Amino acid sequence: MGADSTQPIKRVGLFTGGGDCPGLNAVIRAVTKTLIRANHAEVIGIEDGLLGLIENRMRPLEFDDVSGIMFVGGTILGSSNKANPERFATGTNPDGSPVFEDVTDRCVDHAKAAGLDAIVAIGGDGTMSACQSLIRGGINVIGVPKSIDNDLVGTDITFGFLTAVQIVSDALDRIHTTASSHNRVMVVEVMGRNAGWIALYAGVAGGADIICLPEIPYSLDSICEKIDERSRRGRKATIICISEGAKERGGDQVVKLTDPTSPDPIRLGGVGAVLAAQIEERIGQETRATVLGHVQRGGTPVGADRVLATQFGHHAAALLAAGARNRLVVRCQGQIDDIDIGAVANRQRVVPPDEPILQAAREIGTSFADS
Ligand code: F6P
Repeated sequence: MGADSTQPIKRVGLFTGGGDCPGLNAVIRAVTKTLIRANHAEVIGIEDGLLGLIENRMRPLEFDDVSGIMFVGGTILGSSNKANPERFATGTNPDGSPVFEDVTDRCVDHAKAAGLDAIVAIGGDGTMSACQSLIRGGINVIGVPKSIDNDLVGTDITFGFLTAVQIVSDALDRIHTTASSHNRVMVVEVMGRNAGWIALYAGVAGGADIICLPEIPYSLDSICEKIDERSRRGRKATIICISEGAKERGGDQVVKLTDPTSPDPIRLGGVGAVLAAQIEERIGQETRATVLGHVQRGGTPVGADRVLATQFGHHAAALLAAGARNRLVVRCQGQIDDIDIGAVANRQRVVPPDEPILQAAREIGTSFADS
């Protein structure tokens, strides 16, 4: 656990950073209940992610505040994906570009004034990267890996991912109905940024005929050949599950918008519509695109995510009780464990070419549009 202190933990700050994700409240509940019950510590909720630390907005979390929230989507503390203390947008230049300031000292002062011994940061790679400046400022940060994208390095899985997979596979089940009733090609665009985990898992679970991942640039020829081959076998409908980060071989990702005030300024989106238009133009078959969007992050977490979130939150509290500093809770080879939080900053875990599910899907006839 990397323990290096025997001082009992008395007061812990806790925040949720980055995009919301199913299971955030389950982690808040597990951390808070464990610290209050097992360690007689106080827990202070920091509002709206790192923004609340910058603006000194905090409130105590009591046992009752975190009871009955296990199944509630989103986060009771609020979140922000624009608050990197080292590069915080505080105004606008005459040309409209943002003015950035390093407000780390402000965060450290607010944490000290609140008497926080440590902070539990529940977030993705952006949050863990943003926490590095707090750590340099002397704050002890224990991270809990969150993301529907499942793209944090060091952990086999992040909570929220399995819920997103369930939502997408349910949607694919429904899309099958229209596809087969109208003999259409249906393109379903899913989230995931530069990692194809959601498209891969949900595409397999939902029986997609073609899966397009950011890690495997697609060939339009290959997609049209697969549609044609299916047609020749009497299968007039085809389902394509495409990740928002996918791109055509030799082409670029489709960017929906850029937000210079965000630590991750690129928002992907739109590749599904681009591909649908390409298919219709090339083979003339009626093709529709559906973008599942934020539905994938919404609502109640599935049971497996609730259990994982509870294990992660409990382990974060146990690390604090043991005096550990600057660790990230992970699941590695089925075991809940922890690693140096600095090891994951500014890195993303993408689908490797030898991923077993990829191989299995190929062998049962799913196309990854790369032949
Ligand atoms: O990281 C989670 C995620 O939902 C990505 O899959 C997606 O690309 C991004 O966040 C969308 O961000 P926003 O909610 O800011 O549009």
